[in-house]
Amino acid sequence: MIGPSLDELQPDAARVARALRDGIGSMPSFKAHMNDADIHALALYVSQASGQK
Ligand code: HEM
Repeated sequence: MIGPSLDELQPDAARVARALRDGIGSMPSFKAHMNDADIHALALYVSQASGQK
């Protein structure tokens, strides 16, 4: 397994978006592959699916 369990971490959308934009630790940035709208949509999805409001 690579990276933390997001179900346990329950990151808010801003935290997911930051990880996607900037990368964190050995997680690469997705900035070159996703536009801002896609990053925002995925961040909202992950935060809600993992239990954050
Ligand atoms: C696009 C899908 C992905 C999403 C939504 C995602 C989301 C996240 C989030 C929210 C964190 C926590 C950031 C924090 O602590 O503030 C994280 C950490 C991490 N992710 Fe991802 N990730 C994705 C893809 C990947 C991929 C492809 C890899 C591996 C190549 C990866 C490896 C990691 C690692 C190693 C960490 C822990 C970094 C650290 O704390 O040093 N992630 N990810």
